[in-house]
Amino acid sequence: MVDQVVSEFSIPLDKLQEVETRLTGEFNKGLAREGDDVKVKMLVTYVHSLPDGSEEGDFLALDLGGSNFRVLLIKLRKGQLPEQTAEKFVIDDATKQSTGVVLFDFIAKCVAEFVKKQNITTKLPLGFTFSFPVKQLSLTSGTLIRWTKDFTATGVVGENVVQLLKEAFVRRGDIDVDVVALVNDTTGTQLAVGYLDNNCLIGLILGTGTNACYMEQLSAVGKYTGDKNKYSQVIINCEWGAFGDDGSIDPWLTTYDKALDELVQNKKQQLYEKMISGKYLGEIVRQALLSLIKNGVLFGGKSSEKFSKFEGFETQYVSMIEAGDVANCKKIFKDVFSIEASDEDCQSVKRVCAAVSTRAARLAGAGVVALVKKINKLGGCTVAVDGSLYKMHPTFRQNMDDAMNELAPGNKITMKLSEDGSGRGAAIVAAVACRLTKTE
Ligand code: GLC
Repeated sequence: MVDQVVSEFSIPLDKLQEVETRLTGEFNKGLAREGDDVKVKMLVTYVHSLPDGSEEGDFLALDLGGSNFRVLLIKLRKGQLPEQTAEKFVIDDATKQSTGVVLFDFIAKCVAEFVKKQNITTKLPLGFTFSFPVKQLSLTSGTLIRWTKDFTATGVVGENVVQLLKEAFVRRGDIDVDVVALVNDTTGTQLAVGYLDNNCLIGLILGTGTNACYMEQLSAVGKYTGDKNKYSQVIINCEWGAFGDDGSIDPWLTTYDKALDELVQNKKQQLYEKMISGKYLGEIVRQALLSLIKNGVLFGGKSSEKFSKFEGFETQYVSMIEAGDVANCKKIFKDVFSIEASDEDCQSVKRVCAAVSTRAARLAGAGVVALVKKINKLGGCTVAVDGSLYKMHPTFRQNMDDAMNELAPGNKITMKLSEDGSGRGAAIVAAVACRLTKTE
């Protein structure tokens, strides 16, 4: 039975090639046009160049979209590594799932606290990292297409999120900032690495959610309506998490993926993301383990109250169990879930965790290869990566590299971790925006 569950998650090379091919098809479709049937949106970011390292000044950055909300003060000095001070604020489910006014008032309150604590007295330019699908109208404005992950706040979809942020600042009356850039976390991550590495052509997030962006030639963006003579390239936010929303990856979904999808807010949406990212991997493992329990092959057929709860088994335990030995695994089950696991139970649990995380890493690897092939850079390019899954999981990177080498033997792709890249990148875009305004 354990063998069978594990085998359901396996993605051999031929299947992986199919993922890569279909995803490439989706990328091309999204670049060509807009429309409800276009699932992978390939959004234009209005970021047309990488920073050149000459950006300077003090900037604020806000980072909304992961498990915490963060406010950062970033000091850019020519030729030096950026200096930053950051503060994390826990954003609870009630806030994520209330109204836009409550959500943006919460953000404004955090900013006010931060500004006071850091003793900031001058009006600073601010970069806003908002990690959801946004149809940008310019570098400083964009409307939310839909919420992803577990955000559902009402009154935000279809609205300009920068406007909502500014209105919240006005409601407080004690925040004096200038919002100069709106970016996705993928773009922030790419730019944070691109600040020092001008061959950084892709930004990748493997955290609560997953997504990628990349530098594309404007001539390849059929749907671009702006002046194609002014710039030659633009960063595209793929929003690849939505791959499969038209049912195209249904044949690869296991019963455990389907069970998860029945329980989440955004049913039938973000299916590729659900197979890959940290918000979901723990729950997929839990679903698979529950079926083993039900069949009497795990924990003597008994679950516990905590383990029976939706999202009760978080992805951090997948990482911890895969990194640790049987004794660690037993301790987690005893301390966190009040379950006495045997040695054999722990071996089975570890195998299921590895099966689910390896599938995720391989799928993500196929996505990166699809993008690198698209821009014809198998011979060498840098991919900037951020996100807790990539950072914390013991074998995710290796499994991803293996998949990329299977799909593109001899490739020269360099993955570069961009610690806190999403926020720092927003400050860098803000700096570029300020420089351009001054020179224009
Ligand atoms: C979700 C969001 C996307 C973001 C990703 C990683 O997929 O829709 O915008 O980049 O999560 O945070």
